[in-house]
Amino acid sequence: MKVLHVQGGATLRGTIRVSGSKNAALPILAAALLTDKACTFHNVPALSDVRFMCEILKSLGTEVSHLGPNSIRIQAKTLVPHAPYELVRKMRASVCLMGPLLGRMRSCIISLPGGCVLGPRPIDLHLKGFSKLGCTLEMKNGYLHLDASHLQGANIFLGGRQGSTVTGTANILTAAVLAPGITRIECAACEPEVTDLCHMLVKMGAKIEGIGSPSLVVEGVSTLHGCEHTIIPDRIEAGTFLIAGLLAGDQLRIENLNPLHLHAVLDKLEEGKACFEVDYAKGIIVASNSRGSIRPLEIVTLPYPGFPTDLQAQMATLMAFTPGMSLITERIYNNRFMYVPELQRMGANIALEGATAIVNGQVKLSGAHVMASDLRASASLFLAALASEGETFIHRIYHLDRGYEDFDKKLEAVGVTLKRVEADHLPDSSLPSETA
Ligand code: EPU
Repeated sequence: MKVLHVQGGATLRGTIRVSGSKNAALPILAAALLTDKACTFHNVPALSDVRFMCEILKSLGTEVSHLGPNSIRIQAKTLVPHAPYELVRKMRASVCLMGPLLGRMRSCIISLPGGCVLGPRPIDLHLKGFSKLGCTLEMKNGYLHLDASHLQGANIFLGGRQGSTVTGTANILTAAVLAPGITRIECAACEPEVTDLCHMLVKMGAKIEGIGSPSLVVEGVSTLHGCEHTIIPDRIEAGTFLIAGLLAGDQLRIENLNPLHLHAVLDKLEEGKACFEVDYAKGIIVASNSRGSIRPLEIVTLPYPGFPTDLQAQMATLMAFTPGMSLITERIYNNRFMYVPELQRMGANIALEGATAIVNGQVKLSGAHVMASDLRASASLFLAALASEGETFIHRIYHLDRGYEDFDKKLEAVGVTLKRVEADHLPDSSLPSETA
């Protein structure tokens, strides 16, 4: 298994270009199943999650062609509405196949994705929505059997204990666009990724009102046609590089992003007097090392437009280098602090109190062997490595490749020294233990 070796202390100069959004691309690729015509997508990030999604689409009978490194053409002339465990278990986002299969095929058999390191991730709201749309559901041998022969528009409230659901909204929308009658979704997720999906569906001929708001009204149509669509930039990748710039940048320029998608993050950083400039018209942020000058912050993760949970771990790293006490409260997931003990191995002073991380920041941390538990945890450990003294070895780095396209290349180009090494070839054999 590969380990990412990062040499701390670099200064990041130059330009990083943000790739297409993973979380927009996944449900959009799945939505191509809604028609037998070809759909072409651009700015699709070349990531392992996107490859998984393409594999699943192919296993359902769909033609998937790569027109270039970031352009994919999908045509689902024929479809088998059965998504097997071997593929679904690799990626939670495969749940967003349900809506398109129900809309187009009126039935779907799909394995439930199983456990997740971020804590329980139920899909009760997705299933409630499908039931309201007239579907029947049955769980048999780990597979969910959904029958939508009586699919019909309905009024659906998608609010749960943590707010709305992003992939749940995508699922209900993609079933509703082909359901006869009107579907009104209240408490729909407003994340830019859901808005991007709505824009793609409208290009296919769907009728959706209220796009970008928590109240969506869908008038079902009988068929949809092909489309061409460019995926929005990845706001979480952009935010991660912005934080890299604040930790170690000298006028690091991050381009090809929509700053409005990062409004809550930019607002927080402005409150902390971080050193960055935003060009809203051109979609560029320029960030410089603010260690020592930035102020401690209080952050609470919330559904969009609130502070994104997917930048919580990276922000905790920034706060670990920020003298004073910061409070970071996680409101979306039950278990998104797995990176904390790893940052502690680098010398960070962080205490967990329920859903809040109490970060007593300091100016120096030191490199160590650390273990990534998930995608955003990997990013937070990389950021810590960047600003620490000495070398850091990040184990299980494959998590990072699920969400950051060309990560090593992009960072090397702005001055970071990093390489992937086989765990067995490491000079230090005192690796972190994998079991209790
Ligand atoms: N929830 C329920 N019931 C449901 C669905 C969700 O209680 O039926 C709860 C979840 O347990 C969670 C909260 O609601 O506590 C939000 O879950 P949501 O369904 O919105 O999350 P998701 O759609 O599974 C997407 C992203 C995540 C991101 C979340 C929140 C994709 C493929 N994934 O997940 O991205 O954290 O929205 O913004 O879009 C990541 O990229 O690292 C990542 C985890």
